[in-house]
Amino acid sequence: MNQAPIISDNGSGFSKIGFAGNSDPSFVFPTAIATREVATGASTVRGATPASRGSNLASKRGIEDLDFHIGDEAMANSKTYGIHYPIRHGMIENWDHMERYWEQSIFKYLRAEPEDHYFLLTEPPLNAPENREQTAEIFFESFNVPGLYIAVQAVLALAASWTSNQATDRTLTGTVVDSGDGVTHVIPCAEGYVIGSAIKHIPIAGRDITAFVQTLLRERGETVNIPPEDQLKVAQKIKESYSYVCQDIVKEFRKYDADPYKYFQRYDGEHSVTGRKYSIDVGFERFLAPEIFFNPEINSSDFLTPLPIVVDDVIQASPIDVRRGLYKNIVLSGGSTMFKDFGRRLQQDLKIVVDRRIQNSEAAAGTNLKSTGVDVNVISHKRQRYAVWYGGSLLASLPDFYTSCHTKAQYDEIGPSICRRYQIFGSVN
Ligand SMILES: Nc1ncnc2c1ncn2[C@@H]1O[C@H](COP(=O)(O)OP(=O)(O)OP(=O)(O)O)[C@@H](O)[C@H]1O
Ligand SMILES: [Mg+2]
Repeated sequence: MNQAPIISDNGSGFSKIGFAGNSDPSFVFPTAIATREVATGASTVRGATPASRGSNLASKRGIEDLDFHIGDEAMANSKTYGIHYPIRHGMIENWDHMERYWEQSIFKYLRAEPEDHYFLLTEPPLNAPENREQTAEIFFESFNVPGLYIAVQAVLALAASWTSNQATDRTLTGTVVDSGDGVTHVIPCAEGYVIGSAIKHIPIAGRDITAFVQTLLRERGETVNIPPEDQLKVAQKIKESYSYVCQDIVKEFRKYDADPYKYFQRYDGEHSVTGRKYSIDVGFERFLAPEIFFNPEINSSDFLTPLPIVVDDVIQASPIDVRRGLYKNIVLSGGSTMFKDFGRRLQQDLKIVVDRRIQNSEAAAGTNLKSTGVDVNVISHKRQRYAVWYGGSLLASLPDFYTSCHTKAQYDEIGPSICRRYQIFGSVN
Protein backbone atom coordinates (compact mmCIF):
# COMPACT_ATOMS: atom_id res chain seq x y z
CA MET A 1 0.00 0.00 0.00
CA ASN A 2 2.39 2.70 -1.10
CA GLN A 3 0.54 4.30 -3.98
CA ALA A 4 0.50 8.10 -4.01
CA PRO A 5 -2.34 9.76 -2.13
CA ILE A 6 -5.05 11.30 -4.32
CA ILE A 7 -5.84 15.00 -3.93
CA SER A 8 -9.34 16.10 -4.90
CA ASP A 9 -10.23 19.79 -4.64
CA ASN A 10 -13.83 20.22 -5.72
CA GLY A 11 -14.80 23.86 -6.25
CA SER A 12 -18.15 25.39 -7.22
CA GLY A 13 -16.91 25.86 -10.75
CA PHE A 14 -14.04 23.44 -11.31
CA SER A 15 -12.63 20.30 -9.76
CA LYS A 16 -8.93 19.73 -9.55
CA ILE A 17 -7.82 16.11 -9.08
CA GLY A 18 -4.49 14.33 -9.19
CA PHE A 19 -1.74 12.64 -7.21
CA ALA A 20 0.34 13.87 -4.28
CA GLY A 21 3.84 14.97 -5.17
CA ASN A 22 2.87 16.42 -8.55
CA SER A 23 2.99 20.15 -9.10
CA ASP A 24 -0.24 20.28 -11.11
CA PRO A 25 -3.52 18.39 -10.94
CA SER A 26 -3.91 15.64 -13.57
CA PHE A 27 -7.44 16.79 -14.41
CA VAL A 28 -9.27 20.07 -14.13
CA PHE A 29 -12.89 20.01 -15.25
CA PRO A 30 -16.24 21.59 -14.41
CA THR A 31 -17.91 20.36 -11.22
CA ALA A 32 -20.98 19.50 -13.26
CA ILE A 33 -22.91 16.29 -13.77
CA ALA A 34 -25.35 15.58 -16.59
CA THR A 35 -28.13 13.15 -15.78
CA ARG A 36 -31.41 12.10 -17.35
CA GLU A 37 -33.31 13.72 -14.51
CA VAL A 38 -34.80 17.09 -15.22
CA ALA A 39 -32.66 19.86 -13.75
CA THR A 40 -34.80 21.33 -11.01
CA GLY A 41 -32.11 22.95 -8.92
CA ALA A 42 -33.49 21.07 -5.92
CA SER A 43 -30.95 19.20 -3.86
CA THR A 44 -31.26 15.76 -2.37
CA VAL A 45 -30.25 15.71 1.26
CA ARG A 46 -28.30 12.58 1.87
CA GLY A 47 -29.17 10.80 5.06
CA ALA A 48 -31.78 13.34 6.17
CA THR A 49 -34.21 10.54 6.93
CA PRO A 50 -32.92 7.08 6.11
CA ALA A 51 -36.31 5.90 4.87
CA SER A 52 -36.88 8.73 2.45
CA ARG A 53 -33.33 8.53 1.25
CA GLY A 54 -33.66 4.80 0.63
CA SER A 55 -36.85 5.01 -1.33
CA ASN A 56 -35.74 8.09 -3.15
CA LEU A 57 -32.56 6.43 -4.32
CA ALA A 58 -34.17 3.04 -4.93
CA SER A 59 -36.46 4.57 -7.50
CA LYS A 60 -33.47 6.06 -9.28
CA ARG A 61 -30.99 3.21 -8.99
CA GLY A 62 -30.92 0.89 -11.92
CA ILE A 63 -29.74 1.27 -15.44
CA GLU A 64 -30.55 4.97 -15.44
CA ASP A 65 -28.02 5.39 -12.71
CA LEU A 66 -25.12 4.59 -15.00
CA ASP A 67 -26.37 6.98 -17.61
CA PHE A 68 -24.57 10.16 -16.65
CA HIS A 69 -21.57 12.28 -17.59
CA ILE A 70 -19.32 14.55 -15.59
CA GLY A 71 -17.11 17.53 -16.34
CA ASP A 72 -16.61 18.65 -19.93
CA GLU A 73 -18.54 15.64 -21.18
CA ALA A 74 -21.48 16.74 -19.05
CA MET A 75 -21.39 20.18 -20.65
CA ALA A 76 -21.23 18.62 -24.12
CA ASN A 77 -24.44 16.71 -23.40
CA SER A 78 -26.41 19.67 -22.14
CA LYS A 79 -28.97 19.44 -24.94
CA THR A 80 -30.21 15.97 -24.05
CA TYR A 81 -29.37 15.72 -20.34
CA GLY A 82 -30.05 17.92 -17.32
CA ILE A 83 -26.94 19.71 -16.02
CA HIS A 84 -26.47 19.92 -12.25
CA TYR A 85 -23.83 21.65 -10.17
CA PRO A 86 -23.57 19.65 -6.94
CA ILE A 87 -21.47 22.33 -5.20
CA ARG A 88 -22.73 25.83 -4.61
CA HIS A 89 -20.74 28.57 -2.90
CA GLY A 90 -18.14 25.94 -2.04
CA MET A 91 -20.60 23.67 -0.15
CA ILE A 92 -21.87 20.31 -1.37
CA GLU A 93 -25.59 20.62 -1.93
CA ASN A 94 -26.51 17.43 -3.70
CA TRP A 95 -24.86 14.39 -2.13
CA ASP A 96 -26.19 11.83 -4.57
CA HIS A 97 -24.78 13.78 -7.52
CA MET A 98 -21.55 14.43 -5.67
CA GLU A 99 -21.06 10.75 -4.90
CA ARG A 100 -21.51 9.83 -8.56
CA TYR A 101 -19.26 12.69 -9.59
CA TRP A 102 -16.48 11.50 -7.29
CA GLU A 103 -16.96 7.91 -8.38
CA GLN A 104 -16.48 8.74 -12.04
CA SER A 105 -13.62 11.14 -11.40
CA ILE A 106 -11.72 8.37 -9.59
CA PHE A 107 -12.49 5.42 -11.84
CA LYS A 108 -12.83 7.01 -15.22
CA TYR A 109 -10.47 9.96 -15.08
CA LEU A 110 -7.74 8.96 -12.63
CA ARG A 111 -8.24 5.26 -13.45
CA ALA A 112 -7.45 4.49 -9.85
CA GLU A 113 -8.77 1.94 -7.37
CA PRO A 114 -9.88 3.95 -4.33
CA GLU A 115 -8.95 1.03 -2.05
CA ASP A 116 -5.30 1.56 -2.97
CA HIS A 117 -4.97 5.25 -2.12
CA TYR A 118 -5.21 7.60 0.81
CA PHE A 119 -7.35 10.62 -0.08
CA LEU A 120 -6.98 14.30 0.73
CA LEU A 121 -10.17 16.30 0.17
CA THR A 122 -10.73 20.01 0.70
CA GLU A 123 -13.50 21.92 2.42
CA PRO A 124 -14.49 25.58 2.57
CA PRO A 125 -14.00 27.59 5.77
CA LEU A 126 -16.68 27.01 8.41
CA ASN A 127 -17.90 23.81 6.81
CA ALA A 128 -20.51 22.10 8.99
CA PRO A 129 -19.21 18.94 10.74
CA GLU A 130 -22.21 17.05 9.35
CA ASN A 131 -20.90 17.63 5.84
CA ARG A 132 -17.55 16.23 6.80
CA GLU A 133 -19.25 13.15 8.25
CA GLN A 134 -21.28 12.55 5.11
CA THR A 135 -18.11 12.85 3.05
CA ALA A 136 -16.39 10.29 5.30
CA GLU A 137 -19.37 7.95 4.95
CA ILE A 138 -19.11 8.04 1.17
CA PHE A 139 -15.35 7.58 1.05
CA PHE A 140 -15.07 4.86 3.69
CA GLU A 141 -18.29 2.98 2.95
CA SER A 142 -18.96 3.39 -0.76
CA PHE A 143 -15.36 3.71 -1.96
CA ASN A 144 -13.65 1.74 0.79
CA VAL A 145 -10.62 4.03 1.00
CA PRO A 146 -7.90 3.11 3.52
CA GLY A 147 -7.41 6.67 4.82
CA LEU A 148 -8.87 10.15 4.51
CA TYR A 149 -7.86 13.68 5.42
CA ILE A 150 -10.20 16.62 4.95
CA ALA A 151 -8.25 19.88 4.87
CA VAL A 152 -9.45 23.46 5.01
CA GLN A 153 -8.81 25.10 1.63
CA ALA A 154 -7.30 28.25 3.13
CA VAL A 155 -4.73 26.28 5.11
CA LEU A 156 -3.67 24.45 1.96
CA ALA A 157 -3.34 27.78 0.15
CA LEU A 158 -0.97 28.97 2.89
CA ALA A 159 1.13 25.83 2.47
CA ALA A 160 1.20 26.38 -1.31
CA SER A 161 2.77 29.82 -0.84
CA TRP A 162 5.89 28.26 0.69
CA THR A 163 6.97 27.75 -2.91
CA SER A 164 7.30 31.52 -3.38
CA ASN A 165 10.74 32.98 -2.94
CA GLN A 166 9.08 35.82 -1.00
CA ALA A 167 8.08 33.32 1.67
CA THR A 168 10.64 33.26 4.45
CA ASP A 169 9.43 30.44 6.67
CA ARG A 170 6.94 27.61 6.50
CA THR A 171 4.25 29.35 8.46
CA LEU A 172 0.55 28.56 8.60
CA THR A 173 -0.23 32.04 9.88
CA GLY A 174 -1.50 34.46 7.27
CA THR A 175 -4.48 35.92 5.45
CA VAL A 176 -5.75 34.01 2.45
CA VAL A 177 -7.51 35.79 -0.39
CA ASP A 178 -9.16 32.95 -2.28
CA SER A 179 -11.04 34.02 -5.37
CA GLY A 180 -12.56 31.36 -7.58
CA ASP A 181 -15.51 31.32 -9.88
CA GLY A 182 -18.41 31.89 -7.52
CA VAL A 183 -17.15 33.70 -4.46
CA THR A 184 -14.12 35.43 -2.93
CA HIS A 185 -13.22 34.62 0.67
CA VAL A 186 -10.82 36.50 2.90
CA ILE A 187 -9.70 34.09 5.61
CA PRO A 188 -7.32 34.80 8.48
CA CYS A 189 -5.44 31.78 9.85
CA ALA A 190 -3.30 31.48 12.95
CA GLU A 191 -1.02 28.47 13.11
CA GLY A 192 -3.18 26.42 10.82
CA TYR A 193 -6.51 27.30 12.43
CA VAL A 194 -9.05 29.52 10.76
CA ILE A 195 -10.17 32.53 12.80
CA GLY A 196 -13.79 31.90 11.93
CA SER A 197 -15.31 35.00 13.51
CA ALA A 198 -13.24 37.32 11.29
CA ILE A 199 -13.80 35.71 7.87
CA LYS A 200 -15.49 37.79 5.19
CA HIS A 201 -16.99 36.90 1.82
CA ILE A 202 -17.14 39.14 -1.19
CA PRO A 203 -19.83 38.46 -3.78
CA ILE A 204 -17.44 39.27 -6.64
CA ALA A 205 -15.53 36.47 -8.37
CA GLY A 206 -14.68 35.02 -11.80
CA ARG A 207 -18.24 34.63 -13.03
CA ASP A 208 -19.04 38.28 -12.28
CA ILE A 209 -15.90 39.50 -14.00
CA THR A 210 -16.72 37.49 -17.13
CA ALA A 211 -20.24 38.94 -17.15
CA PHE A 212 -18.78 42.42 -16.75
CA VAL A 213 -16.46 41.91 -19.73
CA GLN A 214 -19.47 40.85 -21.75
CA THR A 215 -21.34 44.01 -20.75
CA LEU A 216 -18.40 46.24 -21.64
CA LEU A 217 -18.02 44.59 -25.04
CA ARG A 218 -21.73 45.00 -25.68
CA GLU A 219 -21.62 48.69 -24.73
CA ARG A 220 -18.89 49.28 -27.25
CA GLY A 221 -20.92 47.45 -29.88
CA GLU A 222 -18.41 44.62 -30.28
CA THR A 223 -20.76 41.78 -29.44
CA VAL A 224 -22.78 42.16 -32.68
CA ASN A 225 -19.91 40.36 -34.37
CA ILE A 226 -19.91 37.39 -32.01
CA PRO A 227 -22.44 34.56 -32.36
CA PRO A 228 -24.72 34.75 -29.28
CA GLU A 229 -23.90 31.22 -28.10
CA ASP A 230 -20.17 32.02 -28.09
CA GLN A 231 -20.36 35.33 -26.25
CA LEU A 232 -19.79 33.98 -22.77
CA LYS A 233 -16.88 31.85 -23.90
CA VAL A 234 -15.27 34.78 -25.73
CA ALA A 235 -15.73 37.07 -22.72
CA GLN A 236 -14.07 34.46 -20.51
CA LYS A 237 -11.16 34.07 -22.91
CA ILE A 238 -10.63 37.80 -23.11
CA LYS A 239 -10.74 38.01 -19.33
CA GLU A 240 -8.20 35.22 -18.90
CA SER A 241 -5.78 36.20 -21.67
CA TYR A 242 -5.99 39.97 -22.18
CA SER A 243 -6.77 41.46 -18.76
CA TYR A 244 -4.50 42.88 -16.12
CA VAL A 245 -4.75 45.01 -13.02
CA CYS A 246 -3.60 48.60 -13.43
CA GLN A 247 -2.14 50.57 -10.54
CA ASP A 248 -4.15 53.73 -11.15
CA ILE A 249 -7.36 53.77 -13.16
CA VAL A 250 -7.28 57.47 -14.09
CA LYS A 251 -3.76 57.23 -15.49
CA GLU A 252 -4.67 54.07 -17.34
CA PHE A 253 -7.61 55.75 -19.13
CA ARG A 254 -5.30 58.61 -20.09
CA LYS A 255 -2.77 56.21 -21.53
CA TYR A 256 -5.40 54.51 -23.68
CA ASP A 257 -6.86 57.82 -24.85
CA ALA A 258 -3.45 59.15 -25.83
CA ASP A 259 -2.51 56.11 -27.88
CA PRO A 260 -5.37 53.65 -28.38
CA TYR A 261 -3.54 51.74 -31.12
CA LYS A 262 -0.88 50.80 -28.67
CA TYR A 263 -3.21 49.33 -26.08
CA PHE A 264 -6.25 48.05 -27.99
CA GLN A 265 -5.85 44.46 -29.12
CA ARG A 266 -7.57 42.19 -31.64
CA TYR A 267 -9.33 39.03 -30.70
CA ASP A 268 -9.81 36.58 -33.56
CA GLY A 269 -12.51 33.97 -33.20
CA GLU A 270 -14.30 31.40 -35.23
CA HIS A 271 -18.00 30.60 -35.09
CA SER A 272 -18.27 27.28 -33.23
CA VAL A 273 -20.83 25.89 -35.70
CA THR A 274 -20.45 27.61 -39.07
CA GLY A 275 -16.70 28.20 -38.87
CA ARG A 276 -17.18 31.81 -39.98
CA LYS A 277 -14.24 33.91 -38.81
CA TYR A 278 -14.72 37.16 -36.92
CA SER A 279 -12.56 39.54 -35.02
CA ILE A 280 -13.24 42.14 -32.37
CA ASP A 281 -11.42 44.94 -30.61
CA VAL A 282 -10.45 44.49 -27.00
CA GLY A 283 -9.99 47.80 -25.23
CA PHE A 284 -10.72 49.27 -21.83
CA GLU A 285 -12.11 45.97 -20.56
CA ARG A 286 -8.51 44.82 -20.37
CA PHE A 287 -8.01 46.74 -17.16
CA LEU A 288 -11.62 47.49 -16.17
CA ALA A 289 -12.54 43.83 -15.72
CA PRO A 290 -10.46 43.07 -12.60
CA GLU A 291 -10.88 46.67 -11.45
CA ILE A 292 -14.23 45.63 -9.95
CA PHE A 293 -12.26 44.15 -7.02
CA PHE A 294 -10.83 47.58 -6.29
CA ASN A 295 -13.70 49.85 -7.38
CA PRO A 296 -16.78 47.63 -7.19
CA GLU A 297 -19.11 50.56 -7.93
CA ILE A 298 -18.12 50.52 -11.62
CA ASN A 299 -20.14 47.31 -12.04
CA SER A 300 -22.94 47.24 -9.50
CA SER A 301 -24.22 49.01 -6.44
CA ASP A 302 -24.99 45.81 -4.52
CA PHE A 303 -21.58 45.53 -2.93
CA LEU A 304 -19.36 48.56 -2.57
CA THR A 305 -16.39 47.72 -0.35
CA PRO A 306 -13.07 47.46 -2.22
CA LEU A 307 -11.09 44.26 -1.62
CA PRO A 308 -8.17 45.99 0.17
CA ILE A 309 -10.62 47.46 2.71
CA VAL A 310 -12.20 44.05 3.25
CA VAL A 311 -8.76 42.53 3.87
CA ASP A 312 -8.00 45.31 6.36
CA ASP A 313 -11.35 44.79 8.12
CA VAL A 314 -10.72 41.06 8.41
CA ILE A 315 -7.31 41.58 10.00
CA GLN A 316 -8.61 44.27 12.32
CA ALA A 317 -11.35 41.87 13.44
CA SER A 318 -8.73 39.25 14.37
CA PRO A 319 -7.02 38.99 17.78
CA ILE A 320 -4.48 41.77 18.23
CA ASP A 321 -1.52 39.47 18.85
CA VAL A 322 -1.78 37.83 15.41
CA ARG A 323 -2.46 40.96 13.32
CA ARG A 324 1.17 41.58 12.43
CA GLY A 325 1.50 38.03 11.18
CA LEU A 326 -1.67 38.44 9.14
CA TYR A 327 -0.49 41.64 7.42
CA LYS A 328 2.91 40.15 6.80
CA ASN A 329 1.70 37.09 4.94
CA ILE A 330 -1.24 37.78 2.64
CA VAL A 331 -1.50 34.85 0.29
CA LEU A 332 -3.36 34.62 -3.03
CA SER A 333 -5.25 31.56 -4.21
CA GLY A 334 -7.67 30.65 -6.99
CA GLY A 335 -8.16 31.43 -10.67
CA SER A 336 -9.46 34.95 -10.17
CA THR A 337 -6.25 36.12 -8.47
CA MET A 338 -4.33 35.35 -11.69
CA PHE A 339 -4.63 38.79 -13.24
CA LYS A 340 -1.24 40.33 -13.82
CA ASP A 341 -0.25 42.70 -11.00
CA PHE A 342 -3.25 41.77 -8.84
CA GLY A 343 -1.01 41.24 -5.80
CA ARG A 344 0.95 44.41 -6.43
CA ARG A 345 -2.18 46.57 -6.46
CA LEU A 346 -3.65 44.85 -3.40
CA GLN A 347 -0.43 45.49 -1.51
CA GLN A 348 -0.24 49.13 -2.65
CA ASP A 349 -3.85 49.97 -1.71
CA LEU A 350 -3.73 48.10 1.57
CA LYS A 351 -0.50 49.79 2.57
CA ILE A 352 -2.15 53.18 2.05
CA VAL A 353 -5.01 52.20 4.37
CA VAL A 354 -2.67 50.84 7.05
CA ASP A 355 -0.24 53.77 6.93
CA ARG A 356 -3.11 56.23 7.18
CA ARG A 357 -4.38 54.50 10.31
CA ILE A 358 -0.92 54.62 11.86
CA GLN A 359 -0.56 58.32 11.08
CA ASN A 360 -3.94 59.05 12.60
CA SER A 361 -3.16 57.23 15.79
CA GLU A 362 0.24 58.90 16.01
CA ALA A 363 -1.39 62.28 15.59
CA ALA A 364 -3.91 61.43 18.28
CA ALA A 365 -1.18 60.24 20.65
CA GLY A 366 1.03 63.33 20.33
CA THR A 367 4.26 63.98 18.46
CA ASN A 368 6.74 61.94 20.46
CA LEU A 369 5.35 58.50 19.79
CA LYS A 370 6.47 57.02 16.49
CA SER A 371 5.18 53.66 15.32
CA THR A 372 7.68 51.20 13.87
CA GLY A 373 5.19 50.62 11.05
CA VAL A 374 3.45 47.51 9.88
CA ASP A 375 4.86 45.20 7.27
CA VAL A 376 2.26 44.63 4.54
CA ASN A 377 3.18 41.77 2.22
CA VAL A 378 1.10 40.21 -0.51
CA ILE A 379 2.64 36.98 -1.74
CA SER A 380 2.19 36.11 -5.41
CA HIS A 381 3.56 32.82 -6.68
CA LYS A 382 3.57 30.42 -9.61
CA ARG A 383 1.13 27.92 -8.13
CA GLN A 384 -1.64 30.40 -7.38
CA ARG A 385 -4.06 29.08 -9.97
CA TYR A 386 -4.39 25.68 -8.27
CA ALA A 387 -2.97 26.78 -4.92
CA VAL A 388 -5.41 24.74 -2.84
CA TRP A 389 -4.73 21.59 -4.83
CA TYR A 390 -0.99 22.19 -4.82
CA GLY A 391 -0.92 22.79 -1.06
CA GLY A 392 -2.69 19.44 -0.69
CA SER A 393 -0.16 17.77 -2.96
CA LEU A 394 2.65 19.21 -0.86
CA LEU A 395 1.23 18.29 2.55
CA ALA A 396 0.22 14.78 1.44
CA SER A 397 3.84 14.14 0.44
CA LEU A 398 5.09 14.76 3.97
CA PRO A 399 5.75 11.71 6.14
CA ASP A 400 3.33 12.80 8.88
CA PHE A 401 0.45 12.88 6.41
CA TYR A 402 -0.32 9.21 6.98
CA THR A 403 -0.43 9.55 10.74
CA SER A 404 -2.68 12.62 10.48
CA CYS A 405 -5.29 10.80 8.40
CA HIS A 406 -8.38 9.05 9.64
CA THR A 407 -8.12 5.39 8.76
CA LYS A 408 -10.68 2.85 7.70
CA ALA A 409 -10.05 0.90 10.91
CA GLN A 410 -10.78 4.00 13.03
CA TYR A 411 -13.87 4.69 11.00
CA ASP A 412 -15.15 1.16 11.43
CA GLU A 413 -14.55 1.33 15.15
CA ILE A 414 -15.82 4.81 15.97
CA GLY A 415 -17.94 5.91 13.01
CA PRO A 416 -18.20 9.14 11.02
CA SER A 417 -17.76 11.30 14.13
CA ILE A 418 -13.98 10.74 13.89
CA CYS A 419 -14.03 13.47 11.26
CA ARG A 420 -14.83 16.05 13.91
CA ARG A 421 -11.21 15.78 15.05
CA TYR A 422 -8.88 17.94 12.98
CA GLN A 423 -5.15 17.62 13.19
CA ILE A 424 -2.75 20.19 11.79
CA PHE A 425 0.63 19.13 10.50
CA GLY A 426 3.39 20.29 8.20
CA SER A 427 4.21 23.68 9.68
CA VAL A 428 7.64 24.16 11.26
CA ASN A 429 6.55 26.98 13.57
N1 LIG B 1 -5.46 33.58 -16.07
C1 LIG B 1 -6.65 33.89 -15.50
N2 LIG B 1 -6.97 35.18 -15.29
C2 LIG B 1 -8.15 35.51 -14.73
N3 LIG B 1 -9.09 34.62 -14.34
C3 LIG B 1 -8.82 33.33 -14.52
C4 LIG B 1 -7.59 32.88 -15.10
N4 LIG B 1 -7.61 31.53 -15.15
C5 LIG B 1 -8.78 31.14 -14.62
N5 LIG B 1 -9.53 32.21 -14.24
C6 LIG B 1 -10.88 32.20 -13.65
O1 LIG B 1 -10.84 31.54 -12.39
C7 LIG B 1 -12.13 30.98 -12.11
C8 LIG B 1 -11.96 29.55 -11.60
O2 LIG B 1 -11.20 29.58 -10.44
P1 LIG B 1 -11.13 28.37 -9.39
O3 LIG B 1 -10.85 27.09 -10.11
O4 LIG B 1 -10.19 28.78 -8.33
O5 LIG B 1 -12.64 28.36 -8.85
P2 LIG B 1 -13.46 27.24 -8.06
O6 LIG B 1 -12.56 26.65 -7.00
O7 LIG B 1 -14.11 26.31 -9.00
O8 LIG B 1 -14.61 28.11 -7.42
P3 LIG B 1 -14.89 28.53 -5.90
O9 LIG B 1 -13.57 28.67 -5.21
O10 LIG B 1 -15.64 29.82 -6.08
O11 LIG B 1 -15.71 27.42 -5.33
C9 LIG B 1 -12.93 31.06 -13.41
O12 LIG B 1 -13.86 32.14 -13.29
C10 LIG B 1 -11.86 31.39 -14.46
O13 LIG B 1 -12.39 32.17 -15.54
MG1 LIG C 1 -11.86 27.01 -5.00
